[in-house]
Amino acid sequence: MTGIDRSAAPESLGKDSPDPVPALLLGRLAVDRRYSSLGIGTTLAAHVLATAVELNEKAACRAVVVTALNPSARAWWERLGVHPFDATDPDQLDLYLLVAEIDATLSNAQ
Ligand SMILES: CC(C)(COP(=O)(O)OP(=O)(O)OC[C@H]1O[C@@H](n2cnc3c(N)ncnc32)[C@H](O)[C@@H]1OP(=O)(O)O)[C@@H](O)C(=O)NCCC(=O)NCCS
Repeated sequence: MTGIDRSAAPESLGKDSPDPVPALLLGRLAVDRRYSSLGIGTTLAAHVLATAVELNEKAACRAVVVTALNPSARAWWERLGVHPFDATDPDQLDLYLLVAEIDATLSNAQ
């Protein structure tokens, strides 16, 4: 679990949240290159997102946050609906997805 300084959070993340905003940090995600493009990365990400929904039911978790490894990894995350903290910065690698958005992402990932 992690906490996001509400003053630095996008409005949709900080609105009506405690400070810091409770979130699930996805530290590292990688798939062995020999098994790439088989859907394993998407399945692992979907598992983490479903875990965030469960955590939010039991305690509080407003979002999943991830720091992409590089711009290519950012593009991969954006395919899942994840947003940059600063949408105006094309180099931004800090990303988030609201728990409220996860159902739509999981439906699209199936
Ligand atoms: C990003 C990563 C986890 C994807 O895992 P994966 O199991 O290959 O992904 P999936 O099979 O679920 O998705 C494959 C799709 O994503 C695309 N894709 C895979 N890696 C990508 C990348 N680094 N950037 C952009 N798109 C990527 C593939 O082209 C494929 O597209 P298609 O469905 O149109 O053919 C894997 O490439 C990886 O381990 N990368 C290195 C570490 C990393 O960048 N981690 C991200 C966390 S910060």
